[in-house]
Amino acid sequence: MASLNINGKTREVNADPNTPLLWVIRDSLGMTGTKFGCGAQLCGACTVHLDGKPVRSCGTPLSAALGKKVTTIEGISASAAGKKVQAAWASLDVPQCGYCQSGQIMSATALLTEKPNPTDADIDSAMAGNICRCGTYPRIRAAIHKAAKGA
Ligand code: FES
Ligand code: FES
Repeated sequence: MASLNINGKTREVNADPNTPLLWVIRDSLGMTGTKFGCGAQLCGACTVHLDGKPVRSCGTPLSAALGKKVTTIEGISASAAGKKVQAAWASLDVPQCGYCQSGQIMSATALLTEKPNPTDADIDSAMAGNICRCGTYPRIRAAIHKAAKGA
Protein backbone atom coordinates (compact mmCIF):
# COMPACT_ATOMS: atom_id res chain seq x y z
CA MET A 1 0.00 0.00 0.00
CA ALA A 2 1.19 3.51 -0.75
CA SER A 3 -0.24 6.91 0.10
CA LEU A 4 -0.80 9.20 -2.83
CA ASN A 5 -1.60 12.90 -2.40
CA ILE A 6 -3.98 13.58 -5.27
CA ASN A 7 -6.18 16.63 -5.80
CA GLY A 8 -5.66 17.66 -2.19
CA LYS A 9 -6.65 14.32 -0.68
CA THR A 10 -4.63 11.36 0.53
CA ARG A 11 -5.60 8.10 -1.15
CA GLU A 12 -4.23 4.65 -0.40
CA VAL A 13 -3.29 2.68 -3.47
CA ASN A 14 -2.34 -0.93 -3.79
CA ALA A 15 -0.08 -1.04 -6.84
CA ASP A 16 3.47 -1.96 -7.75
CA PRO A 17 5.77 1.11 -7.49
CA ASN A 18 6.65 0.68 -11.16
CA THR A 19 3.04 0.94 -12.30
CA PRO A 20 2.55 3.94 -14.59
CA LEU A 21 0.79 6.71 -12.69
CA LEU A 22 -1.81 6.87 -15.48
CA TRP A 23 -3.11 3.39 -14.59
CA VAL A 24 -3.12 4.12 -10.88
CA ILE A 25 -5.20 7.24 -11.53
CA ARG A 26 -7.61 5.59 -13.96
CA ASP A 27 -7.86 2.01 -12.74
CA SER A 28 -7.07 2.11 -9.03
CA LEU A 29 -8.66 5.48 -8.27
CA GLY A 30 -11.35 5.51 -10.96
CA MET A 31 -10.54 9.01 -12.20
CA THR A 32 -11.02 8.70 -15.93
CA GLY A 33 -10.54 12.32 -16.98
CA THR A 34 -6.86 11.64 -17.66
CA LYS A 35 -6.63 9.90 -21.03
CA PHE A 36 -4.49 7.17 -22.56
CA GLY A 37 -3.35 8.13 -26.05
CA CYS A 38 0.00 6.73 -27.13
CA GLY A 39 1.43 5.25 -23.93
CA ALA A 40 4.86 6.41 -25.08
CA GLN A 41 5.09 9.99 -23.80
CA LEU A 42 4.46 11.35 -27.28
CA CYS A 43 0.93 12.78 -27.32
CA GLY A 44 0.26 14.54 -24.01
CA ALA A 45 -3.24 13.10 -23.49
CA CYS A 46 -2.18 11.70 -20.10
CA THR A 47 -0.70 14.94 -18.73
CA VAL A 48 -1.07 15.55 -14.98
CA HIS A 49 0.86 17.78 -12.59
CA LEU A 50 3.44 16.70 -10.04
CA ASP A 51 4.00 19.61 -7.66
CA GLY A 52 2.53 21.88 -10.33
CA LYS A 53 4.77 20.70 -13.18
CA PRO A 54 3.27 18.91 -16.15
CA VAL A 55 4.34 15.28 -16.59
CA ARG A 56 3.23 12.45 -18.87
CA SER A 57 1.58 10.03 -16.47
CA CYS A 58 1.92 7.13 -18.95
CA GLY A 59 5.68 7.30 -18.49
CA THR A 60 5.82 8.25 -14.81
CA PRO A 61 6.01 5.39 -12.29
CA LEU A 62 3.88 5.55 -9.17
CA SER A 63 7.12 5.70 -7.13
CA ALA A 64 7.98 9.09 -8.70
CA ALA A 65 4.69 10.57 -7.50
CA LEU A 66 4.94 9.51 -3.87
CA GLY A 67 5.67 12.45 -1.58
CA LYS A 68 4.51 14.90 -4.27
CA LYS A 69 1.24 16.66 -4.96
CA VAL A 70 -0.53 15.07 -7.89
CA THR A 71 -3.16 17.14 -9.70
CA THR A 72 -5.43 15.77 -12.41
CA ILE A 73 -8.09 17.40 -14.54
CA GLU A 74 -10.62 16.54 -11.82
CA GLY A 75 -8.78 18.86 -9.42
CA ILE A 76 -7.53 21.60 -11.72
CA SER A 77 -10.29 24.08 -10.88
CA ALA A 78 -8.89 24.36 -7.35
CA SER A 79 -6.16 26.65 -8.72
CA ALA A 80 -6.81 30.20 -9.91
CA ALA A 81 -5.03 29.55 -13.21
CA GLY A 82 -6.92 26.29 -13.74
CA LYS A 83 -10.24 28.03 -13.16
CA LYS A 84 -9.41 30.72 -15.71
CA VAL A 85 -8.23 28.16 -18.25
CA GLN A 86 -11.40 26.09 -17.90
CA ALA A 87 -13.59 29.19 -18.25
CA ALA A 88 -11.72 30.34 -21.37
CA TRP A 89 -11.93 26.82 -22.86
CA ALA A 90 -15.68 26.75 -22.34
CA SER A 91 -16.30 30.25 -23.65
CA LEU A 92 -14.32 29.63 -26.86
CA ASP A 93 -15.67 26.09 -27.36
CA VAL A 94 -12.14 24.76 -27.71
CA PRO A 95 -12.78 20.98 -27.75
CA GLN A 96 -13.84 19.09 -30.85
CA CYS A 97 -13.83 15.35 -30.05
CA GLY A 98 -12.40 16.27 -26.63
CA TYR A 99 -10.00 13.36 -26.27
CA CYS A 100 -6.82 15.42 -25.97
CA GLN A 101 -8.35 18.25 -24.00
CA SER A 102 -7.64 17.17 -20.41
CA GLY A 103 -3.98 17.09 -21.28
CA GLN A 104 -4.19 20.42 -23.11
CA ILE A 105 -5.79 22.08 -20.08
CA MET A 106 -3.19 20.62 -17.72
CA SER A 107 -0.32 21.94 -19.86
CA ALA A 108 -1.99 25.33 -20.37
CA THR A 109 -2.58 25.71 -16.62
CA ALA A 110 1.04 24.87 -15.82
CA LEU A 111 2.16 27.43 -18.40
CA LEU A 112 -0.05 30.22 -17.01
CA THR A 113 0.99 29.45 -13.46
CA GLU A 114 4.62 29.93 -14.46
CA LYS A 115 4.09 32.70 -17.05
CA PRO A 116 0.90 34.68 -16.48
CA ASN A 117 1.29 36.53 -19.80
CA PRO A 118 2.76 34.09 -22.30
CA THR A 119 3.71 35.09 -25.84
CA ASP A 120 2.70 32.98 -28.84
CA ALA A 121 6.20 31.51 -28.78
CA ASP A 122 5.84 30.60 -25.09
CA ILE A 123 2.51 28.93 -25.85
CA ASP A 124 3.88 27.00 -28.82
CA SER A 125 6.82 25.80 -26.79
CA ALA A 126 4.80 24.81 -23.69
CA MET A 127 2.06 23.11 -25.70
CA ALA A 128 4.28 21.41 -28.30
CA GLY A 129 3.99 18.01 -26.62
CA ASN A 130 0.18 18.02 -26.63
CA ILE A 131 -1.13 16.64 -29.89
CA CYS A 132 -4.67 17.33 -31.10
CA ARG A 133 -5.84 15.16 -33.99
CA CYS A 134 -8.80 17.50 -34.48
CA GLY A 135 -6.50 20.48 -35.03
CA THR A 136 -7.93 22.73 -32.32
CA TYR A 137 -4.58 24.53 -31.98
CA PRO A 138 -5.82 28.01 -33.00
CA ARG A 139 -8.60 27.86 -30.39
CA ILE A 140 -6.20 26.53 -27.76
CA ARG A 141 -3.87 29.46 -28.36
CA ALA A 142 -6.76 31.95 -28.27
CA ALA A 143 -8.10 30.42 -25.06
CA ILE A 144 -4.72 30.65 -23.35
CA HIS A 145 -4.50 34.35 -24.25
CA LYS A 146 -8.05 34.84 -23.00
CA ALA A 147 -7.28 33.07 -19.72
CA ALA A 148 -4.14 35.19 -19.35
CA LYS A 149 -6.29 38.32 -19.55
CA GLY A 150 -8.40 36.88 -16.76
CA ALA A 151 -11.51 36.69 -18.92
S1 FES B 1 -0.60 8.64 -23.42
FE1 FES B 1 1.00 9.58 -22.32
S2 FES B 1 1.93 10.92 -23.77
FE2 FES B 1 0.46 9.79 -24.94
S1 FES C 1 -10.19 17.73 -29.70
FE1 FES C 1 -10.07 15.82 -30.75
S2 FES C 1 -7.98 15.21 -30.45
FE2 FES C 1 -8.05 17.22 -29.68
